[in-house]
Amino acid sequence: MPLEFPNLTVVTHPLIQHKLTWIRAEETNTDSFRQLLREVSKLLAYEATRALPTERITIKTPVATMESAVISGKKLCLVSILRAGNGMLEGFLDILPLARVGHIGLYRDPATLEPVEYYFKVPSDIADRQVLVVDPMLATGHSAAAGIARLKAAGCTQITLISLLCSPEGVQHLTETHPDVPIFTASLDSHLNEHGYIVPGLGDAGDRLYGTR
Ligand code: URA
Repeated sequence: MPLEFPNLTVVTHPLIQHKLTWIRAEETNTDSFRQLLREVSKLLAYEATRALPTERITIKTPVATMESAVISGKKLCLVSILRAGNGMLEGFLDILPLARVGHIGLYRDPATLEPVEYYFKVPSDIADRQVLVVDPMLATGHSAAAGIARLKAAGCTQITLISLLCSPEGVQHLTETHPDVPIFTASLDSHLNEHGYIVPGLGDAGDRLYGTR
C-alpha cells in the first residue's frame, strides 16, 4: 500500500494481474474485454467485501447441528457510475446476487469541466445500506467524487469505491474530497495524460466495453 494513499488497496492477486494484462492489451476484442472485466470485477468484489461483519447462526447439516457464519450488518447496495461502471456491475452481481443496485449518470460540463448529474436512481432505503460504488477508471476522480457526494447527500455513510485502474491524481482527489472512502483497485497506474486518459491505462473503458470506438 503506498504510504501517501492510506485509503488505497491495490489487489495484486496473480489472477487479477493476468486478466488485467489482457484487458489492457489493444488487440483484445469487445467480447473478451467484457468477459475479462466481469471476471476481474468478481475478484475485486471478493477483496472489497473481505471486512464485512459476520455472525454465527445455528443450522442443521444432513449429519449434525452446527454453528456457522453468515454475513451480518447493513445490507449492500451496488452503485454503478454510468456507463462503464456497468461492466463491473455484472461481476459484482455474480457474487452478490442479493445486493440492490443504483445508477448514477454524470457528464462533464464543457465550459466549467465540472461533472453534472443527468441520472440518479438508487433504492429508497440506500441510506441504510453499505454502498459499493463501481467505476472502472479513476482518472481525474471528479466523477467518482461527485457521485459519492451525491450518495452522501442521500444519507449514505458507509461507501467503498472499486475502480479497475486508478491514476495517482484521481486517488489524490478522492482522498482529499472523501477521506472516509476506501478505494480498491487492480492497479495504480503512472499518471494522466493531457487528454485525461490514464497512462498506460486501457483507453476508453466505455468504448472498449460496448464497441463504440
Ligand atoms: N476514462 C476512461 O475510460 N479511460 C481513461 O483512461 C480515463 C477516463
